[in-house]
Amino acid sequence: MSVKFYREEHQVPLEMHKVRVVQKLNLLPVEERLKAIQAAGNNTFLLQNHDIYMDMLTDSGVNAMSDRQTAAMHLADDSYAGSETFNRLKKAVKAVFGTDDLLPAHQGRACENILAEAFVKPGQVAIMNFHFTTTKAHVTRCGGDVIELVAKKGLEPQSDDPFKGDFDLDLLRSTIEQYGPEKVAFVRVEAGTNLIGGQPVSLANMLAVADICHDYGILSVLDASLLQDNVYFMKTREAQCKYMTTKEIYHLLAGKMDLIYFSSRKLGFARGGAITSRNPALIKSLMEYIPLYEGFLTYGGMDVRSIESVAEGLYESLDMDYISQGPEFIAYLVKELDDYGVPVIKPAGGLGAHLNCSEIVPEVPHSQYPAAAVGAALYIAGGIRGMERGTMSEQREPDGTERYAELELLRLAMPRRVFTLSQVKYCADRVKWVWDNRHLIGGLQWTEEPSVLRFFFGRMKEIGHWQEDLASKFREDFGDSL
Ligand code: F0G
Repeated sequence: MSVKFYREEHQVPLEMHKVRVVQKLNLLPVEERLKAIQAAGNNTFLLQNHDIYMDMLTDSGVNAMSDRQTAAMHLADDSYAGSETFNRLKKAVKAVFGTDDLLPAHQGRACENILAEAFVKPGQVAIMNFHFTTTKAHVTRCGGDVIELVAKKGLEPQSDDPFKGDFDLDLLRSTIEQYGPEKVAFVRVEAGTNLIGGQPVSLANMLAVADICHDYGILSVLDASLLQDNVYFMKTREAQCKYMTTKEIYHLLAGKMDLIYFSSRKLGFARGGAITSRNPALIKSLMEYIPLYEGFLTYGGMDVRSIESVAEGLYESLDMDYISQGPEFIAYLVKELDDYGVPVIKPAGGLGAHLNCSEIVPEVPHSQYPAAAVGAALYIAGGIRGMERGTMSEQREPDGTERYAELELLRLAMPRRVFTLSQVKYCADRVKWVWDNRHLIGGLQWTEEPSVLRFFFGRMKEIGHWQEDLASKFREDFGDSL
């Protein structure tokens, strides 16, 4: 087992890889960072890469590939149908999940589109530990409703519970009874629960959910996009998993859940996605959607080079040396911030560190998007791009009223195998400066608000002139340094 620290008491993670290809970065002066964030409408999605020093927007599609992945890309067998490359992907999926059948798709949300089209009828509900933005958008587009049954501990920002992504199992049973099984389109377990801070689900809980679904004859679906982080936490935090191999865990899950889908932008350090199942009849029932929405059954919207990199990356997601790097870097950042008193979601999860912005700027109300405001402040302070995961990422109710997020988070994602530890320390340093100067941060208001997925393309402006004041304070504190 390989959680490697060069001195156990320091808990400084030790990378089990070396960097062999590099990309030059820019760090603009603070005055230009101020202009850039305002030109981007205070929406970090609209910043340009050129203007960013640390891109912590997401861990999706931005993970560093290994030498084996890039080498495999040269072997790609390009053909519309029946390519050898697809057979290699099938072999990798079989090795990881033990399943024979799979449907390729261009990314995770494409799988969600197909599952929603196939299984969600108007008036039905899809039950999950917690929603993901694209999942919910597809379920509601098909006339369904999303019900979230994450256990209460999942929404406590500070906790030492190791598995905050767990379902409340009693509530799951009673909710199914309340609606009746025929009204439940499926139950979806999201490994590494994204929107509550990358918090894992225990193996015991996942298996119990699958059993409950089986008892009621309801389809169980595992969103495995963040499963590699989740498996790391199972092995390090759950007694029954300590002596299991990663492969045994993946196989056990795939043997219990009816359907598994994943984004290979996360699972597999690449691009693309797929749906797999131990049940060939289920896969057959979804087959027709692939040529309709994605492409032929042997490429599903991915180019063959990507498929090769997914196949190789899937093998790497069994390797603790690789899958421990992200969670350990995140744990390091979370500890640095927590020791300094910055409100951060605890325990550290996968995906990234998550700042609890309701506590950083308690005087900025939900209606002025505190997490987006802290995100803009951190970009001004350090050229660091995070992602708002709070009220801005919610959608208004059909009558136009705001739906306030339960947690106002700024996510600082940790792309896997990308940053060095000194960059992570820089990030901690700049977050601490934002925390020290939090009294300067004010709210934001819309200038352009799209009706769907507004966090992607919406634009906002500062309320008052707090951003100019923050940039001036930075200049005062840092002198000529960037
Ligand atoms: N499921 C989970 C748990 C995800 O985190 C994502 C994407 C998806 C599904 C959709 O996959 O992007 O390949 O279409 N999460 C990204 C993020 C976008 O930044 O958290 P996709």
